[in-house]
Amino acid sequence: MKRNLICGMDIGTSHVRAIVGEINMDNSISIIGVGTSPSEGLKKGVIVDLDKTVEAITHAMEEAERMVGTSIPSAFLGIVGSQVSLINNRGVVAVAGADKEITEDDVERVLQAARVIALPPDREIIDVIPREFIVDGYDGIRDPVGMVGVRLEVDAMIITGMITSLRNLYRCVERAGINIDGTVLTSLANAEVALSRDEKELGAVLIDIGGGTTEVAVFQNGHLINIAVLPIGGDHVTNDIAVGLRTTLQAAEKLKLEHGVALPSLVPENSSIELPQISGKEPRKIQAKELALIIEARLVEILHMANEELEHMGYRESLPAGVVLTGGVSLMRGIAELAEQIFQSSARLAQPSYVGVKSPIYSSAVGIVHYAQNTQIGSDREYRTNRVALPGIFNKVKSWFMDMFES
Ligand SMILES: Nc1ncnc2c1ncn2[C@@H]1O[C@H](COP(=O)(O)OP(=O)(O)OP(=O)(O)O)[C@@H](O)[C@H]1O
Ligand SMILES: [Mg+2]
Repeated sequence: MKRNLICGMDIGTSHVRAIVGEINMDNSISIIGVGTSPSEGLKKGVIVDLDKTVEAITHAMEEAERMVGTSIPSAFLGIVGSQVSLINNRGVVAVAGADKEITEDDVERVLQAARVIALPPDREIIDVIPREFIVDGYDGIRDPVGMVGVRLEVDAMIITGMITSLRNLYRCVERAGINIDGTVLTSLANAEVALSRDEKELGAVLIDIGGGTTEVAVFQNGHLINIAVLPIGGDHVTNDIAVGLRTTLQAAEKLKLEHGVALPSLVPENSSIELPQISGKEPRKIQAKELALIIEARLVEILHMANEELEHMGYRESLPAGVVLTGGVSLMRGIAELAEQIFQSSARLAQPSYVGVKSPIYSSAVGIVHYAQNTQIGSDREYRTNRVALPGIFNKVKSWFMDMFES
């Protein structure tokens, strides 16, 4: 039996997660493999220790492979927003054919034309995403192939990345023995599973609060418009708890996960929590409200900073479809209410409805699988496959197929 599998890998500050999706006959995706490993080699989304990162990648992959029952030779990687910048550019070409019918070749050429931009020496293009095509001045065209025209233009978003940090990421993955199928911006991956088509169209902000970073991504008219990354996340909450309650980071993380809430008003009066014993000291009790106040203070700061970024981007008024929260910290009880107060707009949690894994901590990895599939399978368009290609390293992205022999 031939199985069509795609692996998505999210190399985050707190965990490396590998997700293996199987593409069914009807093009739907079933998640059949999940691997996760704590990651200690990254700070604020950037690799600082190659060996530890390779180790975490290897563990996560082995776990996913055990679940799938076969080896996984390659994966699509998530690229975090802190390493990228977005540039809008236009490309223009004359339609080549004598009959003036636009072909895939013309689309490929116009996208190549859009890639021609002056880049600083430390950056490279990692993705080119067409926003709209314009045929003889008529704009808003999503797919021009088959249309007739003389002049084909594209309004595209060019995603560029820092060469050194990307190279380190590729090196870690390759040293773990995994081939790289392509790369996907994690904000685009998240949106794939966390935002509805309507939300992307109307205008929404997707906020991914992870361990060491908070990614703010604005979508409107169906496209990613802007991203900002803050070097702050759930690990800062843990740190505050450890300092505020004079305990270890491990104990603070455990307290946060077991008893943490984002709003002190959610804690019943006089409820107390036993702090675990550290280095021979007697266990002691604290008020649950005290813990909630520490968490609230840091989350308010994170959400305020995210709001400031939005204002910076020119979104002083709330976006029509509001705020959608994802990432590990979105699991904190009460955070959506807190976000509503700060953003003065509706806020909801991303509730990914994919088969297999439900938690938003897997949104990025699952989203990578969906994005990779949506941009290549079910469409043999050359330009679509090029969208996730890395110039100089890969010239064509393909999903890999495996022969599974029925026993
Ligand atoms: N149930 C929970 N309640 C509160 N916080 C949680 C919960 N589960 C995980 N977290 C926190 O979420 C953070 C990790 O989130 P996530 O797995 O999305 O991060 P990451 O992708 O590895 O990091 P980054 O995106 O910053 O590189 C940690 O700070 C963790 O403590
Ligand atoms: Mg993350």
